[in-house]
Amino acid sequence: PSLGSVLNSFDFEAIARQTMKPEAWAYYSSGAEDEITLRENHAAFHRIALKPRVLVNVSHIDTSTTFLKQTRVSLPVYITACALGKLGHPGGETVLTRAAGARNVVQMMPTLASCSLDDMLNARVDGQDTWFQLYVNADRNVTRDVVLKAEARGCKGLFVTVDAPQLGRREKDMRLKYQEDISDIIVKTGGDEEGTSTGQKKVNRAMGAARAISSFIDPSLSWKDIEWLQTVTRMPIVLKGVQTGADAVQAARLGLAGVVVSNHGGRQLDTCRSGIEILPEVVADLKRAGLHGKMEIYVDGGFRRGSDVFKAIALGATGVGIGRPSLYAMSTYGQEGVERLLDIFREELEMVMGLMGCTKISDITEDMVDASHLSTR
Ligand code: FNR
Repeated sequence: PSLGSVLNSFDFEAIARQTMKPEAWAYYSSGAEDEITLRENHAAFHRIALKPRVLVNVSHIDTSTTFLKQTRVSLPVYITACALGKLGHPGGETVLTRAAGARNVVQMMPTLASCSLDDMLNARVDGQDTWFQLYVNADRNVTRDVVLKAEARGCKGLFVTVDAPQLGRREKDMRLKYQEDISDIIVKTGGDEEGTSTGQKKVNRAMGAARAISSFIDPSLSWKDIEWLQTVTRMPIVLKGVQTGADAVQAARLGLAGVVVSNHGGRQLDTCRSGIEILPEVVADLKRAGLHGKMEIYVDGGFRRGSDVFKAIALGATGVGIGRPSLYAMSTYGQEGVERLLDIFREELEMVMGLMGCTKISDITEDMVDASHLSTR
């Protein structure tokens, strides 16, 4: 189908399912075990109702906002880190970098990218801000080097993934064992250009892509390492994968710049809550601890519509991450597809804001949503 016939993010998914290599589709689309959390991530938005205000002049709507107090972006959406971009498109993660640059949104560059960090950074346009997603390596020297490199080359935020001390069981992916050697696909931005300094050159083929990359993840990661990272870098540090108010409070006490409320796209622990459902608990606990406003709150998982974005902003998020839709858009239509996806999110958000009586992001407030049925427990 022509790109012009793609109307929403689900259309990209449907086309990707039909056209992607089965192994790539399996790796991108899979969730952990019974995929209850994966489905819940988007379904949770259906339990939040919008409460529009009328008779507001909405002839001009501005979706732009600021991330981490420094980056002006065209909409409160960023492209989140996903490993193995080249499974879906030969250009890999640089396709996402270019689309993000063209649409003035932030890309979070993954440690387990299939392009080198240099390739991704070199694909930026002038003045394009990007973030770096960190998987902490068992060899902390490797981690220190890559963090210093990301900082030296101008990355504006360090997003430390904390929800993957081991990888979840993604059975769709495990059944379709990946046939190529995955270490040929991962360039391992965590190491040098050859990927040697990860200390992990060979990984077992035919384990399923996720199993294969789990060799690059350190199960000993703890709060002490976060404090160590604070001594390594001046980049704002954000914890990616917080799922309770208690951990968000601990992050704020450490003086971190933020958290991403996330269950890793339902790929880690099945039957945990969706990010949007956790968000009110995080806000309430931070308020109770007197720490609300000290830290930015981001959220990801199941964001497929402009109204989903609106709901997260209303419930206290600064921005939301888009994972699979950007992979599907990249895999089907390349850079143009990702640009179209971002345009769709902007158009949908503009429409919702207009119908809700909001002309700017700061107009979006908690009383505009009814989230009383969000948590059904
Ligand atoms: C991810 N995610 C992820 N997160 C991370 O911190 N490091 C990584 O390497 C990856 N890799 C990855 C690969 C693929 C194929 C997917 C789908 C996801 C998780 C990602 O950043 C994000 O949390 C979720 O994808 C958000 O959910 P949606 O938008 O995919 O529903």
